[in-house]
Amino acid sequence: MEFYVDIADMDAVRAVNEYFPIDGFTTNPNILTKANKPLSEMFGEYRTYIEETGQRIFVQVTADDADGMVEQAQRLHDYFGDRLVVKLPAVREGYRACKRCKAMGIDVCVTVVHSMMQALMAAKAGADYTAPYISHIDNIGADGVRCVDEIVKAFDRFGYTCKVLGASFRTVEQVEKLAVAGCHAVTITPETFDMLIAHPSTDVSMQGFNRAWHDKFGDNQVSDYLE
Ligand code: E4P
Repeated sequence: MEFYVDIADMDAVRAVNEYFPIDGFTTNPNILTKANKPLSEMFGEYRTYIEETGQRIFVQVTADDADGMVEQAQRLHDYFGDRLVVKLPAVREGYRACKRCKAMGIDVCVTVVHSMMQALMAAKAGADYTAPYISHIDNIGADGVRCVDEIVKAFDRFGYTCKVLGASFRTVEQVEKLAVAGCHAVTITPETFDMLIAHPSTDVSMQGFNRAWHDKFGDNQVSDYLE
């Protein structure tokens, strides 16, 4: 399962990468508006990071028509190289651009997906990823987790290699349920990474270990006894 950080702040991505085994990071136009420095400077930092780590970066086009999307995808690909996954919206022009980007050898994520059919059409158009927005699907009265479960099953049934990238989570439970459903990838906030691995029983056990050790060996460490 692939894990991405859904954020534009390079320091935050680097901080998560220190602690967790991530595969890269995802951005969207909204996230990029929150960048705390000029975008051209940020993009330079992104490029350095993906070159250093070999991870992937997801960047969404901002054009409305397929010609503009493809042109932006090409320029983004020229800039970031093969570690780029260009995000194209699940609208008519996005699907048209998807087929063309794939013919040019650019990896694509069809994003802002709210239904099984949008995802299925993305896979058939050759997308490498498709990103259903879990909480947004919940908010329109449907079930985001079930939608992903059905998409994963359909892709298996039809033999599509397109990966499902679960996005827009509100709870750790949603992430867990996607893992159970066999969702190939998720993109989550830095805070969610911490919540994913937090468990009060682990903390209680650690307190027990520390108490027992200190009662017997004081401030010494286990490595002090390697003679
Ligand atoms: C995914 O790539 C999106 O950036 C993201 O998950 C959108 O989530 P939000 O609209 O709930 O912030």
